[in-house]
Amino acid sequence: MITRPENDSVRVYSDDGLSPLPLRQLFGNDRPIEIDLGCGKGRFLLAHAADHPEINLLGIDRMLRRIRKVDRKAVRAGLTNVRLFRMEAYYAVAYLLPAATISTVYILFPDPWPKRKHHDHRLFNPRFIDALHHILIPGGLLHIATDHRPYFEHIHATLRAEAPRFTEVEAWEPPDHARTDFELLFLEHKSIGRASFQRALD
Ligand SMILES: C[S@@+](CC[C@H](N)C(=O)[O-])C[C@H]1O[C@@H](n2cnc3c(N)ncnc32)[C@H](O)[C@@H]1O
Repeated sequence: MITRPENDSVRVYSDDGLSPLPLRQLFGNDRPIEIDLGCGKGRFLLAHAADHPEINLLGIDRMLRRIRKVDRKAVRAGLTNVRLFRMEAYYAVAYLLPAATISTVYILFPDPWPKRKHHDHRLFNPRFIDALHHILIPGGLLHIATDHRPYFEHIHATLRAEAPRFTEVEAWEPPDHARTDFELLFLEHKSIGRASFQRALD
């Protein structure tokens, strides 16, 4: 059952963590659904939602304080196609998002956990890739960006090895006004690794 944390608008959801998210009910329409996984302060999510009223956008982050702020900004901007979900990313993808429901997943500047002893905390691993494949519609897209070169090389090589389940396509890049808060920190002085993959049509 979906509950609404006290004092939040209707857009922020928490969950008992046991039932699949009723996505159509949350958005109230059957437009394509895109996810910003680890949406942070929401600069990309809000700009993208405003640019694309024809899609639904679900922001997921484990930090409730952050997504509440994003919620308030979405309300102020009058965006009706945004929903926010406070949840751990792997758990949401593996257990709460229904199969073949998501048209595009954005994973922008995921925490790199640079120390080797912390690599277990990284989001990208074979189980996570299985779960992404499960939630994407056939032909759905996965866009990744990170400033951390070694993590980028790891993600890129891992996904390339997933062919034919995933095929590399031209790397997506956001328009300037939709760059994420983290990207703005790095844009001037670091090269950013970007890669995009398409889920097989089956
Ligand atoms: C480095 S920030 C990037 C935020 C945003 N994508 C950007 O580029 O500005 C990583 C974000 O992912 C969230 N995050 C990290 N690990 C997570 C996890 N396992 N589940 C859900 N959110 C996570 C953090 O709370 C943070 O908001």
